[in-house]
Amino acid sequence: MVNTVTSTVTSAVTSAAPLASTAPSASAVPSGSTAPSTDGAPDVHQYAPEWLELRESADADARAADLAADLLDPLRNRLRLAHLPSRTATGMTVHDLGCGTGSMGRWLAPRLDGAQHWVLHDHDPDLLRLAAARAPRTAADGSPVTVTTRRGEIGSLTASDLADATLVTASALLDVLTPGEIDSLAAACTGAGCPALFTLSVAGRVELTPSHPLDAEIADAFNAHQRRGELLGPDAVDAVCDAFSRRGATVHVRPSPWRLGPEQAALAEEWLCGWVGAACEQRPGLVARANPYLVERLRACRAGELRAVVHHCDVLALPRPTNGAT
Ligand SMILES: C[S@@+](CC[C@H](N)C(=O)[O-])C[C@H]1O[C@@H](n2cnc3c(N)ncnc32)[C@H](O)[C@@H]1O
Repeated sequence: MVNTVTSTVTSAVTSAAPLASTAPSASAVPSGSTAPSTDGAPDVHQYAPEWLELRESADADARAADLAADLLDPLRNRLRLAHLPSRTATGMTVHDLGCGTGSMGRWLAPRLDGAQHWVLHDHDPDLLRLAAARAPRTAADGSPVTVTTRRGEIGSLTASDLADATLVTASALLDVLTPGEIDSLAAACTGAGCPALFTLSVAGRVELTPSHPLDAEIADAFNAHQRRGELLGPDAVDAVCDAFSRRGATVHVRPSPWRLGPEQAALAEEWLCGWVGAACEQRPGLVARANPYLVERLRACRAGELRAVVHHCDVLALPRPTNGAT
């Protein structure tokens, strides 16, 4: 067992790259692999479906804690008011940005009443295929749920791409966006008077029990990795709140931490490897100390002795309605 762990850790920490496809924390470490497609746009493959599946139930648990009452009720009220006239005819149109395998739709569609058409956006065509195949078929009240997919870059979305939206949503996406992309998104949603629900955005804080002297340094290097280039990483929640507030929207924020214990050991192991791997990619000088650290953390995880709270936030932004709803 220890040999297996050691070889996993060695390859993870010394190269960091193998972990990029599984990705730590909310959205995390794009590997940037691309392949040509038939219509000229690059196909992007950054996130392994296995990683997204592994985290789906932890994401659902994290959202359920506060989101259900604190954010979903105001959202339902807004949707009801904004959408009454056309509800029975065409239903709502929900745009899910960075849908991955469609986890947000599986969580949210059965919690909303009324017919829904989901437009699933991602730049990875394989994930879009999975998301369409696994989409929920019925709403909370039994109304039909349909889906279409759109391959493309979130950063290229314009207000007209979202003009038909009743709701824009995303989960575990904001940290890989830039300030300009967040600003455009806020402009598009507020321009359309459309509510936006962004769940599971990394907050940049992690609590490990028992603690270790290297925890803070790894966390710091990981956060720096998330902020590489122009990416917002853990600053994304503040940026999105600011971008919507500046445009007159009411913004609600709630915590949605992952609470990982022995029952989520597989997710915790994968997260740990990605977290430490990204930290080492950012600060290669950490590798010599991070290697034994990760061996010890994985051993504790497998022994059921490690607990991790990985902090995230959910954000509900309610722009001023454009159709008279309040
Ligand atoms: C961490 S995953 C989250 C997937 C899904 N929302 C979930 O909660 O399981 C981030 C997703 O966003 C997509 N993505 C990231 N950056 C993107 C961009 N700039 N344009 C389009 N899709 C993007 C990735 O392909 C991936 O599917």
